[in-house]
Amino acid sequence: MNFTNLLIDVADGVALVTINRPAALNALNIDVLNDLTAAFSSLQENAAVACVILTGSGTKAFVAGADIAAMQPLNAVEAAHFARLGHALMSLIESCPKPVIAAVNGFALGGGCELAMACDMRIAAENARFGQPEVNLGVIPGFGGTLRLSRLIGKGRAKELIFTGDMVSAQEAFRIGLANKVVAAEDLLAEAQSMAAKIAAKGPVAVRFAKEAIDSGLEMDLDRAGRFEADLFGLCFATEDQKEGMQAFLDKRQAKFTGR
Ligand code: HXC
Repeated sequence: MNFTNLLIDVADGVALVTINRPAALNALNIDVLNDLTAAFSSLQENAAVACVILTGSGTKAFVAGADIAAMQPLNAVEAAHFARLGHALMSLIESCPKPVIAAVNGFALGGGCELAMACDMRIAAENARFGQPEVNLGVIPGFGGTLRLSRLIGKGRAKELIFTGDMVSAQEAFRIGLANKVVAAEDLLAEAQSMAAKIAAKGPVAVRFAKEAIDSGLEMDLDRAGRFEADLFGLCFATEDQKEGMQAFLDKRQAKFTGR
């Protein structure tokens, strides 16, 4: 896969996707959105990939937002189209059958924070900064920030961040549940790779079902979510991985999962 704005490296079951537009702090224009959409569409079908890491190039930014220069002249119809492209990408990442880890290596602002939130987990470098500063530009979050920030950190805190446009540090993001952990900048990729390798060693069908149960379950009432979880639990017993995982425990050996 060759993309103008992305670097992609697949090794040992883990795909590292790097948004590579450092001169604009990896800002998201239509080309970057299209590249990411094509990349994730392909990676989700790639049997050699069990887990994806998404990061930004350079040491300053994960993604500093949607591209302000590209958005400034848009009319209302064009702006809505741009927002919908972003929404489709965020949904694609969120529903990716493989876990996606955001390695947040600097500014994650506006569309960058929204992109990080569409990922399953966020590991932040100490220098990372998160925020939804759209109100500074006379607009609101448009790639799902109002939805995902409130679900992740609660309505009150989401409103505070979105209404003030304030940025928060990596440590504050960790405290409020926006980041899963904070590590030294030089350890960021190793930490993300280590988490990805741990996940890649598990039964891929079980990991995919767990993701589905959590994400879909959160949008259902508890009763339906419970039945959905029970059905997915039952489906695990149609896989070779369930037989192997449980037999390996009984044999006191390491399980060898095949994803079947
Ligand atoms: C386009 C951007 C950009 C962006 C930075 N750049 N952010 N270009 N869109 N979102 C460019 C700058 O213009 C500059 O280009 C270069 O990257 C370096 O940025 P500087 O501002 O010089 O760096 P610094 O002074 O260190 O400040 C870093 C920063 C600041 C705090 C991150 O760049 C900033 O505030 N950026 C905008 C953040 C933001 O408002 N994001 C939300 C966007 S709205 P030149 O050519 O001058 O070197 C959004 C909506 C999403 O995301 C929903 C859409 C539907």
